[in-house]
Amino acid sequence: MSDIRIAVVGLGARARSTWIPLLQRIPGFRIVALCDSVTALHDRSMLPYEVPFYQDYADVLALSDVDAIGLTVRSPDQGALAADALEAGKHVHAEVPAAHSIADCWRIVLAAERSGCVYALAEQTRHWGFVQAWRELVASGQLGHVTLCEGQYFHYLPADKFRDPVTGAFVPATDPRAEPSWQHLMPPIHYLPHELSPMLKVLDDRVVQVVGMSTDVPSYAHPEIRQPDMQVALMKTAGDTILRMATSFVQPHPEGNWHWYHLSGTNGRVEWRRAAADKPRMWLAGMPDLVDADWQFERADAPPAAVGSGHGDADYYTHVAFRDAVRDGTPLELDLYRAMDTAAPAILAASSIAQGSIPLAVPDFRPNADRPPGAEYGG
Ligand SMILES: NC(=O)c1ccc[n+]([C@@H]2O[C@H](COP(=O)([O-])OP(=O)(O)OC[C@H]3O[C@@H](n4cnc5c(N)ncnc54)[C@H](O)[C@@H]3O)[C@@H](O)[C@H]2O)c1
Repeated sequence: MSDIRIAVVGLGARARSTWIPLLQRIPGFRIVALCDSVTALHDRSMLPYEVPFYQDYADVLALSDVDAIGLTVRSPDQGALAADALEAGKHVHAEVPAAHSIADCWRIVLAAERSGCVYALAEQTRHWGFVQAWRELVASGQLGHVTLCEGQYFHYLPADKFRDPVTGAFVPATDPRAEPSWQHLMPPIHYLPHELSPMLKVLDDRVVQVVGMSTDVPSYAHPEIRQPDMQVALMKTAGDTILRMATSFVQPHPEGNWHWYHLSGTNGRVEWRRAAADKPRMWLAGMPDLVDADWQFERADAPPAAVGSGHGDADYYTHVAFRDAVRDGTPLELDLYRAMDTAAPAILAASSIAQGSIPLAVPDFRPNADRPPGAEYGG
């Protein structure tokens, strides 16, 4: 079957370091266009062959020789940009978070359903080896009823909070060119997909209710940054598990071990390692104490092409799943609706914070669930 002709939109660090190299390595893709609104990032050395560069996304969507959009932008509109592509009849493989508003989640769902195009979210941590092992433990009932699931993403990244809009380069706050970057403006709790996606896969569940809480702005660690140091979402799932998940991007944290997870059930408990020298641990009822476990990020069954693809070999899997869905109709494990399950609770956690930490119901985007009035308009 012919290669998927893909345009990569958003030429920041993620596209340059991972997507563009991987799309050349994995059979079945041909990059046919590149786009970024910042022309200084139109670097012809990114590919070993010539492709057209575009500044305006609408021009890419108008190209008849583009089958699919690889969406690697950081923008409050990244959900809307995905919906625009689906509405233009393009398949979409989009970076996380899927969207930053519930209206955009609905737009993606309705546009994918109407167009029949593939929408795939590039959330890769659900492919980690230990996630599969934990899923099997939960599915086999060995942990009993999981009552508590925790996740956190603490990644100290003060250097990406100001950007020169002309060159696209991150600059210090004191630089006269400095403007707040989207990483600065985004509520930190929006960046929960790497916690929600793997843990909802482990639990085979979705969130139905959320409450958010935040420390104040500006940051205590970096007063020049108008972002809270810590945001927390407390959530309840359809299957009656409580999730406690937190995000922090400006508070100092050791390099590495940014993600941490824990499950407690009526018959046992598992937890990820706290430090590089630490081990993941497990306890089952009847054991005297927690024991070390040998779970890894890397999967034991990783094909050679996955090894070294990024994030514990996981980056490879979303591209292969997208390719097989577009070319062969292979159903996506992280389908359209599960993708929205990784975004909507995070969006509503920020809404809850903005409204004084009130509890909010999380919509179910599936066709057999009740759709709220106005959903057909993305509202
Ligand atoms: N899955 C992962 O592990 C992972 C890791 C890093 C980043 N990401 C995600 O990848 C995406 C890109 O991250 P990044 O670090 O490269 O961000 P970045 O800010 O460095 O780059 C994003 C680029 O998108 C461009 N852009 C924004 N809106 C645009 C538009 N309408 N049209 C054209 N270009 C536009 C910007 O000019 C910028 O150059 C984000 O969604 C981020 O959350 C995911």
